[in-house]
Amino acid sequence: MDLQQLQRTFEARFGQHGALYTSPGRINLIGEHTDYNGGFVFPGAIDKGIYACIRLNGTSTVRAYSVDYDDYCEFGLHEEDKPQAAWARYLFGVCREMDKRGFAPSGFDTVFAGDVPLGAGLSSSAALESVFAFALNDLLHLNIDKFELARIGQSTEHNYCGVKCGIMDQFASLFGQAGHLMRLNCTTMEFEYFPFNPVGYKVVLLDTAVKHELASSAYNKRRESCENACAHIAAKHPDVKFLSDATMEMLNEVKNEINTEDYKRAEYVIGEKQRVLEVCDALKKGDYETVGKCMYGTHQGMSKLYEVSCEELDFLNDIAKECGVTGSRVMGGGFGGCTINLIEEALYEPFIATAKQKFAEEFGHDPKVYEVTISDGARKIGE
Ligand code: GLA
Repeated sequence: MDLQQLQRTFEARFGQHGALYTSPGRINLIGEHTDYNGGFVFPGAIDKGIYACIRLNGTSTVRAYSVDYDDYCEFGLHEEDKPQAAWARYLFGVCREMDKRGFAPSGFDTVFAGDVPLGAGLSSSAALESVFAFALNDLLHLNIDKFELARIGQSTEHNYCGVKCGIMDQFASLFGQAGHLMRLNCTTMEFEYFPFNPVGYKVVLLDTAVKHELASSAYNKRRESCENACAHIAAKHPDVKFLSDATMEMLNEVKNEINTEDYKRAEYVIGEKQRVLEVCDALKKGDYETVGKCMYGTHQGMSKLYEVSCEELDFLNDIAKECGVTGSRVMGGGFGGCTINLIEEALYEPFIATAKQKFAEEFGHDPKVYEVTISDGARKIGE
């Protein structure tokens, strides 16, 4: 990211100098669709994110320019109606959610840009929410803790962007630490940093560059299925607060009360919980074969039970298997976006070449390839 250029664009538009902040996108090694079910996730921040040049302007108006969309938007902090532009709703939502929590934001000017691919399942939207929540907290000395900043981002998605997401993406964007993945328990919000340096392996993302329609309503529908299955189980087992607390035995007790679709969704979530725990043990021993096996298990579950994969992602997963990739799976919410692949270094080049060739033959375009570097979370990067 050319930060000097960002600063120059800011100065040209607003006539003054701004402070620079960034917040990253994320990967997730394993633990998908578990966050809103009270389960574990295992994300890490990446070296791609959103960069914002920002300055308080002493008014109650936000004036924002998105370099990537070449689009400008202004809104008042006391306005009720969200802006037309989808990107501006994230900024609007962050301001409103801060206000609701008693942290009144003040007006600001900003120019921002990103290098985290949009719609690829790398949480560009969480990066956007987090960079503004983080920057406003810092500039206004609000002392909001990072969990609350993450919740501000999450509520922005819920209330202004129509996605009933969990907390993983915002958490990862704010708490990320270079070289470390984080295992977060989404019921207790306890988390642990895990050094992640798989010697002899690479982590690579293959982006199908497709984003299927209705991804947000399908996402919300998955969440409803889980909540429904959980409510039936909880009626018999009051200790079960989230679906991740349930066992397969409990799920089977309510099998006749819920529809097949909800049953399959719940079966996936319960299986995924086990896989995350298995991966944690395996990582401690440096046993990447087991990590990889669990990743394939997740793909299978997301494709056949949770049904959030798609033709392009399944295709890439099959190629990975054929090429001897240690672990591969759809990453993030699904319905398009990326696969995450854990691969031995020696197999990297042939895998990428084969995946590109076969994918292009089948779908008419190359998948995009991103090598992953696990990096720091939200931070100030210049006065
Ligand atoms: C999206 C959501 C997250 C999480 C993942 C699936 O990225 O924003 O909260 O549910 O999907 O694991």
